[in-house]
Amino acid sequence: MTISFHLNGDRVDLSPEVAPTTTLLQYLRETAGLTGTKEGCNEGDCGACTVMVTDANGPRALNACILFLPQLHGKSVRTVEGMSSPEGEMHPVQQAMVAEHGSQCGFCTPGFIASMVTGHARGETNHDDILAGNLCRCTGYAPIVRAAKAVEDAEVPDWIRDSVPQVEAVAIAPETSDELAAWYDAHPEGTLIAGATDVGLWVTKQLRDLPEVAFLNRCADLKQIEDQGDTLHVGAAVTMAELLPVLAPIYPGYAEMVRRYASEQIRQAATIGGNIANGSPIGDNPPALIALGATLHLRKGDTRRDLPLENFFIDYGKQDRAPGEFVEAVTIPKRADRLACYKLSKRFDQDISAVLGCFNLTMADGVVAEARIAFGGMAGIPKRAAHVEAALIGQPFDEAALERAAPEWAKDFSPMSDMRASADYRLASARNMLRRYWLEGQGTSVNVREVRA
Ligand code: FAD
Ligand code: FES
Ligand code: FES
Repeated sequence: MTISFHLNGDRVDLSPEVAPTTTLLQYLRETAGLTGTKEGCNEGDCGACTVMVTDANGPRALNACILFLPQLHGKSVRTVEGMSSPEGEMHPVQQAMVAEHGSQCGFCTPGFIASMVTGHARGETNHDDILAGNLCRCTGYAPIVRAAKAVEDAEVPDWIRDSVPQVEAVAIAPETSDELAAWYDAHPEGTLIAGATDVGLWVTKQLRDLPEVAFLNRCADLKQIEDQGDTLHVGAAVTMAELLPVLAPIYPGYAEMVRRYASEQIRQAATIGGNIANGSPIGDNPPALIALGATLHLRKGDTRRDLPLENFFIDYGKQDRAPGEFVEAVTIPKRADRLACYKLSKRFDQDISAVLGCFNLTMADGVVAEARIAFGGMAGIPKRAAHVEAALIGQPFDEAALERAAPEWAKDFSPMSDMRASADYRLASARNMLRRYWLEGQGTSVNVREVRA
């Protein structure tokens, strides 16, 4: 395996001996001597390790601590050492950070610079979203955001416009789903790595060895989103960042939930296939997809099968997926009904959901004709509220319906208490989310961030 990429403008060809689960952060600090990129949490949370990674689709900010070297094959990486010009001229973002006093101890600053330079190169002006994955403990965000705003109209310097290297294919990074299917069928004990936002932590936190791995990020056909008229066909390797603008005009509630999914750096890496295949009871996509009636497409070798997504989740840690079988895509109906997704987490940004409720009711002749209500964080799997749905169907959706449904919640869910929320709080939140859905349907604004005294 030879992994080739550009690092601050120079080509790097790594010898075949390099372990495929070496993180970019390890490589930068321990091999390349580029210690400007910092290690804070080593789990994708703090952004101290942020770097800019450019491929054919342009630059992205990513966390180097959970980015494995093979994921960089054919790409271009720029660290904080490469943000100024070869002659030493500072990037406008760096100048603005000095002028606005955007740094104190400076530990977080290289990561902020990488996120800001990338955001600037992409023409992003929603600085709160761009910086939600960078934590600063001493400066405070106001001067940093002022610096980002100050350079919105500055030109992108020439030296930041990276090209990508020409590279040969490598065995562990298949270029098509056919190659991936053949590899996985022959290595059913192997580990698939898509965005590595889960698998990265198996390595950095659980110190697990992964003897056989295949990376999905070069499988072009798994990265397609096809609008098929009344459905969206989304490849398993589509990232949250790629999905968000496609969802926004069709399901604004779902898109708003994805905007709060982790941080810019994680959304740029995490895939929809990884979020489904990991079987997590607190993954954000499955409840929304189940509420929409999505279909999952699985493949093993040349054999494909489809199933309603809700049937994929059998029990905690158990999914309907055979060894060597992988998620190829998910099909999402473009339904006209009203989908709302309510993400409840301790922090507004960059936090795993304590409870995620997704509601999708279809009305006909003044009564509920169909109800699809799915939750994360309420059971060992993403799960529908079957009893609550049954209590609503065939009746007007009014305050009496909420009362009728109230005792049904405890039949559908026996949530656990953990550090994110108690069982009682989770049940009360679920009940209140249905009330919120009803109130919003009446035109009442219940978004606490919009309520003004
Ligand atoms: P990977 O880590 O590459 O893989 C995850 C699992 O899925 C592995 O078992 C892998 O083998 C398997 N896999 C991947 N692709 C396939 C496939 N196509 N077929 C079969 N198996 C496959 N999640 C949320 O839902 N909401 C959040 O707000 C959120 N915040 C996070 C914040 C941080 C800081 C971090 C580190 C993670 C967060 N996560 C969150 C969890 C994580 O981002 C998601 O679960 C993510 O979608 C996983 O996708 P991935 O592509 O990174 O998967
Ligand atoms: Fe904290 Fe990488 S070190 S996100
Ligand atoms: Fe110290 Fe941000 S300047 S953590």
